[in-house]
Amino acid sequence: MKTILTGIRPTGHLHLGHYFGAVGNWAKLQNEYETFIEIADVQALTDNFNDPDKVRKSVNNLTIDLLSIGIDPNKAHIFIQSLIPEIAELTVFYSNLVTISRLERNPTVKTEIKQKKELFGEQGESITYGFLGYPVSQAADITAFKGNLVPVGDDQLPLLEQCREIVRKFNSIYGETLLEPEAYLSKFPRIKGIDGNEKMGKSLGNAIYLADSDEEVKNKVMSMVTDPEKIKVDDKANPNICMVYYYHKLIGNENLHNICEECKKGQRGCVACKKELLEKLLEFLKPVHEKQEYYSKHPEEVEKILKDGTSIAREKAKETMKEVKKAMKIDYFK
Ligand code: TRP
Repeated sequence: MKTILTGIRPTGHLHLGHYFGAVGNWAKLQNEYETFIEIADVQALTDNFNDPDKVRKSVNNLTIDLLSIGIDPNKAHIFIQSLIPEIAELTVFYSNLVTISRLERNPTVKTEIKQKKELFGEQGESITYGFLGYPVSQAADITAFKGNLVPVGDDQLPLLEQCREIVRKFNSIYGETLLEPEAYLSKFPRIKGIDGNEKMGKSLGNAIYLADSDEEVKNKVMSMVTDPEKIKVDDKANPNICMVYYYHKLIGNENLHNICEECKKGQRGCVACKKELLEKLLEFLKPVHEKQEYYSKHPEEVEKILKDGTSIAREKAKETMKEVKKAMKIDYFK
């Protein structure tokens, strides 16, 4: 059986971008693969080291969100990164195999540095060693569990490529030990925000969260960006630039073809269209909210799930570590 390894940073609640871009896929894949899902608290601390409360709180919220969208703890192992010291050890070993300039050229890291500069200014927050090195730590995450498949959104592809390079380098120096992973993209690997931005993101303020109340979802749907040329109800419009149409598509509205045709012919008003979308979204969110409520009231269950998942993950990482140390000739005192 192939192994899936994926991870997510605990920095807040899950939103629809996470769900449709990657996380929803995990709930399907857990039936076919041995699945490890890492709550990447160490990685979250690389740019939230000054806000430990946020990370701590988000570990719980995120685990609840994952369980609520259908991650089944009897199938998938949800675990906490900082409780697997082998990942930190591997990170140290791999850091010799990566140059600083290669890290600086990583497109995901580059984009994040640019965003930081926009947020804090050139002289603001400077780039830490830990932040620049997080792709190395992510390579350790993946390889510690011999992950073959890594289901992620397309923003993660450069990190995966960097992991593959590290694996090849390691194997060429120390002998075939590590597995080269492959990305597994969902049907929509990047999800647009309600404002039409190419990416839905927390910092962009354009996300619908799985934990949003019905009222919040309503306000967000009603504020979605539509074709700006359409002024009157019976104006013809272009659904391809309309966020409401886009989310009808994501949610899998079976009426999609008609929506598209009516919109183009000027037979569909935006408010009615939004109300239809709202109904579909609330229908989708109802069972998610019920589970969120259940797990929020049963923190001991959430804790047990994390403990059990982490203990299984740790065993697997220990096995890998043995092989790695043998290959590197640092397996002393056998
Ligand atoms: N970098 C990922 C994100 O920002 C989270 C992550 C951590 C991850 N470790 C991973 C993803 C390992 C895939 C595999 O969402």
